[in-house]
Amino acid sequence: MFNVVLFGPPGSGKGTQSEKLIEEYGFKHLSTGDLLRKEMKEGTPLGLEAKSLIEAGKLVPDSVVIGMIDAALEANPDVPGFLFDGFPRTVGQAEALDKLLQGRQWHIGIVLFMQVNEEELIKRLVGRAKTSGRLDDADPEIQKKRQDVYKQETLPVAEYYAQKGMVQKIDGEAAIEVVYGRITAVIEAAKA
Ligand code: AP5
Ligand code: MG
Repeated sequence: MFNVVLFGPPGSGKGTQSEKLIEEYGFKHLSTGDLLRKEMKEGTPLGLEAKSLIEAGKLVPDSVVIGMIDAALEANPDVPGFLFDGFPRTVGQAEALDKLLQGRQWHIGIVLFMQVNEEELIKRLVGRAKTSGRLDDADPEIQKKRQDVYKQETLPVAEYYAQKGMVQKIDGEAAIEVVYGRITAVIEAAKA
């Protein structure tokens, strides 16, 4: 099993690249953002709890997302690998993921760190707001909040993995296909 963590700020292209990667490699895509939006749409208690936090640009509690990931790992024992998108987002989540994988004798093959400057990130999310229906895209203040939360709470996760020598930086400022080529080159080298 080869597991990938796709890491980067809001708007860096994690979801976009995930779609292509799952098609090519058969990964099981685990986007905590997508899973939470599904709960919101279905109006579950978890979705209702998450809604106010997501729409304010804040993170939902670690225990909530860790529980969702644990359940997804348990439900998919036979996949060729997992593609974690938007998770882990705090050092606590990264530590929990290590434990969840170790307990199953799995591990992370590579952490891909998408590099995109903030001006471009905001531009992309403003563009996406027109079609995504995501309330956290539409409001410039919430967008700013998401970038701030990323810097304060999520960026330390990159350092956590860098200390273990697991991080490969990907220049995410190019056409989608070009970025995809950069990602697959790194995955192929890591798998070899
Ligand atoms: P989540 O859904 O994970 O959102 P995010 O991290 O804010 O990232 P985005 O989905 O906005 O961006 P992306 O990197 O996927 O970019 P995309 O490919 O769409 O999380 C949402 C919320 O849920 C969080 O704020 C939090 O509240 C909660 N949450 C989720 N996970 C959590 C966790 N683990 N712990 C706690 N809370 C959690 O691309 C963006 C746009 O750019 C698109 O329009 C795309 O077409 C365009 N684009 C992509 N690539 C390119 C390119 N190369 N050139 C030009 N345009 C491009
Ligand atoms: Mg996304």
